[in-house]
Formats: sequence, C-alpha cells, structure tokens
Amino acid sequence: MPAPLTAVVLAAGLGTRMRSPLAKVLHPLLGRPMVAWVVHALQALGADVIVVVNHQEDAVRAALPGVRFVRQEAPLGTGDALRAALPLLPDAGPVLVTAGDTPLITADALRRVVAAHAGAANPVTVASFEVVDPTGYGRIIRSTSWDGGAEPPRNAPHTPGSSTSTAPGGTDGRAHVPRHVRIVEQAECTPDEALIAEVNSGVYVFDAAYLRAALPALAPHPPKGEFYLTDLVTGPATVVSGFDATLFAGVNDRAALADARLILRRRVNRAWALQGVDFADLESAQIEVDVTLHPDASIGLGALVAGKSDVAGMVGPHSIVNDSTIAAGAILHAHSIAVGAVLHPGAQAGPFARLRPGAVLLEGAHVGNYVEVKNTTVREGAKANHLTYLGDADVGEGANIGAGTITCNYDGFAKHRTVIGAGAFIGSNTALVAPVTVGAGAIVGAGSTITADVPADAVALTRVPQKTTPNLADKLRARNRARREANK
Ligand code: UD1
Ligand code: CA
Repeated sequence: MPAPLTAVVLAAGLGTRMRSPLAKVLHPLLGRPMVAWVVHALQALGADVIVVVNHQEDAVRAALPGVRFVRQEAPLGTGDALRAALPLLPDAGPVLVTAGDTPLITADALRRVVAAHAGAANPVTVASFEVVDPTGYGRIIRSTSWDGGAEPPRNAPHTPGSSTSTAPGGTDGRAHVPRHVRIVEQAECTPDEALIAEVNSGVYVFDAAYLRAALPALAPHPPKGEFYLTDLVTGPATVVSGFDATLFAGVNDRAALADARLILRRRVNRAWALQGVDFADLESAQIEVDVTLHPDASIGLGALVAGKSDVAGMVGPHSIVNDSTIAAGAILHAHSIAVGAVLHPGAQAGPFARLRPGAVLLEGAHVGNYVEVKNTTVREGAKANHLTYLGDADVGEGANIGAGTITCNYDGFAKHRTVIGAGAFIGSNTALVAPVTVGAGAIVGAGSTITADVPADAVALTRVPQKTTPNLADKLRARNRARREANK
C-alpha cells in the first residue's frame, strides 16, 4: 500500500498580471474557479489537500469544500508559501506541491509524477515540459557534476519518461552518470540558460522529511526578497519529463486564461461526445461543469449550457441555457435564452425566444420567435408562436395565443395572474389586464383589451367598430397637394 499522499496548493498570490480585482485563482473556467480545477484533480488522486491562501482568503475558502487551509501572511514568494504549510505537513511520506494557477493538470499526469517519486530514491521530484517559448518559466538545468555547473541546453524533444540518475533517453553514453538538477528563474537566467526549452511545471513531489530540513534554510532573492520554491530543487532530483505542455500551462494573464478555457471546453465536450452527446462544434460550445447531458442530446454551434442544467433534447446554435431542463425530444431553437426554465418532451421554443425563471412548457407546447415567458406554465399543445409576453400566467391545454398578445401582469404596484382556459383562442394584439381569467374554449377578438373575466365558450371583443368612408383617400391626397402648393 503506497504512503498516504499530502498535497499543497499554492494559491496566495494576487496575480498582478491578470489586471483584475479578482484574485487570480478565483477566475472562473466553465463555472468552476481556476484553483478548484487543481483541487479536483488532487482529490481524484485521494490526496489530503492543503491550500495556502492570502488574497481574498474568504472567497477562496468558500470555493473549496473538503480541503484544509493555511494562511501565508505576506506574499514573499512560492518558497515562503510552502513554508507556511509546514505545520500541517506529516513527518514523513510524499508531499505533492502544485500551484493554484495551472488548471489544466489532470489526475493522470499527477499520478505519473507521484509514481516516479515513489520509484526513485531522490527526496525531490519535479515535472518538466518543453515549450517553444520558455519566457516566464523556470529553466531546468541538469548537470553531471556535484557542484551543479550547467551543461549545454537540451532543446531536442525526447520521449516521455522520468530521468533520475540517467541522461534523457539514456543514449548519450552518460546513461549512468549521476545527475544533479536545479532550476533557474527567468530573471536570473544567463543568456545560455534562457535558451533552455525544458521548463519547470511547478509540480513537485518532496519527501516530507526533506521539506522539514530544507524549507527553513531557504534564502531570499534580491531585489524583492522573495523565497523561491525552486531553490528546493538542488542536488539529486528526479525529473519527470515529456508531458504535453498544455497540461501544466500556468495562467498568469487573461490571454492564458482564455487559452485555458478553450482547452477545457474541448476536453469537457469531448468527454460528453464520447458519452453519446452530439456536438455541432467541440470548440465553440461551452458546457459548464455542473451541467448534466444525456446520450443523444444535441448541442449547437456556439451554445452555452450553464448552471445546474439538464439537457436530453436539443439546444440550437448560439442559445444560452442556465439552470434549465430540456427533456428528450424538446427543442430550444437558435438564439434563444432559457434561464430557470423547463421544456417537457416535444416542447419547442424559439428561435429568438426568452424563457425566464418559472417558464414551464409542457408536452408539445410551442413558443416561437420573440416570445418572452416568465413564471408561466404553457400547457400541453398550447401555442404562442410570435411576439408575445406571457408573465405570471397559466395557459391551458391547446390554447392559441395570437401574435402580439401581452399579459399586463404589473399594475405599477404588484404582479397579478392571468389564467387562460384549455382550447381558448386569444386574437392577435390582445392586452390581458391581470388579474383576469379567460375561460376554456372562449374566443377573444384581435386587438381587444380584456379587463374583465371571459366565461368559458364566450366571445369577447373590445375593438372600436371600424368606420370606412368610400373615396375619402383621393380627397385627402388632393387637399394635401393643394396645401403644399399654397406654401411654396
Ligand atoms: C513559478 C515557478 C517557475 C515555474 C512556474 C510554472 C517559482 C519561483 N517559480 O513561477 O519556476 O516555471 O511557476 O508555472 O516558484 N504564490 C503564493 N504565494 C506567493 C507567491 C505565489 O501562494 O508569495 C502562488 C500563486 O498564487 C500561484 C503560484 O504560487 O498560484 C505560482 O506563483 P507565480 O507567481 O505564478 O509563479 P511563476 O512566476 O509562474
Ligand atoms: Ca504562474
């Protein structure tokens, strides 16, 4: 049985480069704060997770259930942050350390680093990867000598694997020469070191006993007096290399945040696609982490499904779904918005529909373009196909709501209900002044303003009678022409 794993997540920095009042690690990615992605991966490994906090400490604590916290009093660098966690660390066993700003790490990658540490005798293991532009990362310096002198840059790609006391690939004739590893930060690189493409991922495993001895001995770096976690990587160390660079990409600015979002979107969407969900486009659709999709659900180009939504039906292109349920066989057509809404099987809404909280479309109900529905049940087979507002209403089974119909639910003081009976017909451009009830089977003529209840099967019409005068149009035109002439 492997030793229990302790994990420390460094999340105390403000992240100045984000240019945001929100602490860097709280920036959301698919509905989950950046640091919570890291914690999720660690919890999947079964690690006991400790998070080092300072900036917006309360919000960071609230975002992370099931972990322990420790406070770093001042932002004195990554080494100081880990030092703050020292009182919570066990006396022995592996301690996995990661930053809170690498949200793309996976449990699989972390498992590989932990396994490499367990399989080597070194007290230190660090995960590395190679990048085209290493700017901003610490460079991995390997040396054959015990004084840690640099050897030439390693720019050649190599196969995945861990190199401990062996050269990468073991093919350069120095396969069994003991290796020392150290990390040089961007600001302290010599021009030669700056060329090194192999960089520090910020993911390490240390023996707890080593940390107890080495952390108190860290020395500050001028000019800011920061303590570097990377100074713990000195002497014999295991480097686990060959990772896909995107797994460990650090998010230091908003451009990297957007890149990370794109990668996570693809990753989440792919996983759903393998579960049988149909995606028009794996990159533009965004499915947030608390959403449930069902096999055969269909997600359109550029659709956003957020909150605690549950989708078995179809979400059309460029539609937004939040905290809503779309049952199998239901369709939210293109460019629609559903927030807190429920579409039962066979219900349809849109294109260009807006369903607000409490909108419930029962089986086969249809609301069409430019229809807004709030706190309203549209019962089986009822239709409101164009340009309508249904607020605080109950629309009976099979009722037909004409274009331009409005429920006047608000009198300036309070909201009132409108009840429309089964099979009722509401003519176009009707204003239903709530509270009001239109009985089952009743007919309301177009253009009416209904202020009193209409009994079942009655016909109500408030329209002003039409007045038609033959040939008046010609006379009006002649009169207007004469006026124009007179004014010249
Ligand atoms: C760090 C590494 C660098 C590595 C890179 C990988 C150091 C000195 N450098 O650089 O070698 O290539 O990560 O992404 O470690 N933090 C604290 N308290 C502090 C400072 C930072 O908790 O006082 C936290 C931050 O919130 C962040 C993490 O530590 O989550 C990393 O800090 P950051 O400033 O982003 O380090 P990098 O410059 O990226
Ligand atoms: Ca960083």
